[in-house]
Amino acid sequence: MSHQPTKGHQIINQVLLHPDSQGTDINLWFDGNGGTGLENALSDPAAIIATIQEAGLRGLGGGGFPTYKKWQFVADQEVSPDKYLICNGNEDEPGTFKDAYLLSHSPHQVIEGALIAALASQINKIVFYINPEQISSLNNIRQAVEQWKTCDYYTLIEAQLGCSLSIRVMESSGHYIGGEETAAIESVEGNFPFPRGKPPFPAVSGVYGCPTLINNMETLANVSHILRKGSEWFKALGLGDSTGTKIYCLSGDVLKPGVFELPMGTPLEDLIYIHGGGMLQDKELKAVFTGGVSSSILTPKDIDVPLDFDSVRQRGSSLGTGAMIVVSEGTGIVKRVTEYVNFYAHSSCGQCPPCKTGTFYISQLLNKIDTGQASSADLESLKNLCKFLPGSGRCHLLDGAVIIVDSSLHHFLDEYKSSLNG
Ligand SMILES: Cc1cc2nc3c(=O)[nH]c(=O)nc-3n(C[C@H](O)[C@H](O)[C@H](O)COP(=O)(O)O)c2cc1C
Repeated sequence: MSHQPTKGHQIINQVLLHPDSQGTDINLWFDGNGGTGLENALSDPAAIIATIQEAGLRGLGGGGFPTYKKWQFVADQEVSPDKYLICNGNEDEPGTFKDAYLLSHSPHQVIEGALIAALASQINKIVFYINPEQISSLNNIRQAVEQWKTCDYYTLIEAQLGCSLSIRVMESSGHYIGGEETAAIESVEGNFPFPRGKPPFPAVSGVYGCPTLINNMETLANVSHILRKGSEWFKALGLGDSTGTKIYCLSGDVLKPGVFELPMGTPLEDLIYIHGGGMLQDKELKAVFTGGVSSSILTPKDIDVPLDFDSVRQRGSSLGTGAMIVVSEGTGIVKRVTEYVNFYAHSSCGQCPPCKTGTFYISQLLNKIDTGQASSADLESLKNLCKFLPGSGRCHLLDGAVIIVDSSLHHFLDEYKSSLNG
């Protein structure tokens, strides 16, 4: 099968991974026009949120929520006594490794984006919340923050806010669940990252009861560029109705795995066969686990899907973090799903009984099936759990585990049946 490049291949338009955005020296960042976005923001803080709205920037931490809306919610709250921004760099799910790349290679664009967000929503406390295993992310962001603190911009922002601005770099708890927004709030308060019930939403009551904005690192990295080059420029980067670019994390059975910044809406086929160099050993594609393995599995019939939030959702899955784990013919799906569900069972914080016991039972049943020790009654139990468990946990962890099992049962039921022992 030959794969012709489409528009997604011809127009790469790198922004976040562009050479000018790289490096940990702030002077090099300023030499390449870094800082201009913040200057524009300082000259008209009231216009920042409208610019982000016009650009169509959506949260790139998984949910795709319109960024301007969150910023506006927080801007609308009274300062009581503080307002927080958590820059979410927990990134602990299988197949996702874009934020670590951004933080270790180009921390200044993320920090500038966070400062602009602080101006827009009148935030006086910024927390960089970073996975403790990502040593170079932590080192580089710490070094970069110190450089920003000595800049004139810092004083200008404080003058605009009318109070002092604090920036803290902290290690997240290192648990997958610690990346969920309310769990991150608990972590910042020094507690174990148990997710909180909502409402109240973080914009109203987050860290120590103060209004709190939480954004992903990739979301924030885009902000400095939008404020520098304008919303029309950003919109034109995307394909179809999408705006901007996306950092896709490609891994699994491809020749060239890695991080690829491409126009938002690049077809899956281009990502795998053009940018990723095609399948390993020229094997046939069997499945793709998307979004950080918490979404429905895509199959070869979805190869043309544009990788943007809405198009992937129309295929019954979700873009999530933009992680694409590629699986080739010959790989056992039951084994693969078992591995991922084992991860979920291990990652459940245990706070919600349906999640604690549900992920454990699903994982037990899958391990039984995968090792040829299960009966058809076990398979029926697995199917039933997939019906009853969704929606019964406080956060999305349990639903994510169920979705991959359910969609693997839908697409690969024969493999499950052939693994049974009666
Ligand atoms: C179990 C779980 C883990 C998550 N981990 C992360 C994470 O590591 N980083 C992240 O940005 N968002 C993570 N999220 C999503 C956050 O709750 C939140 O939606 C996001 O940080 C918001 O940023 P955005 O609007 O810029 O996407 C996670 C969500 C869940 C349910």
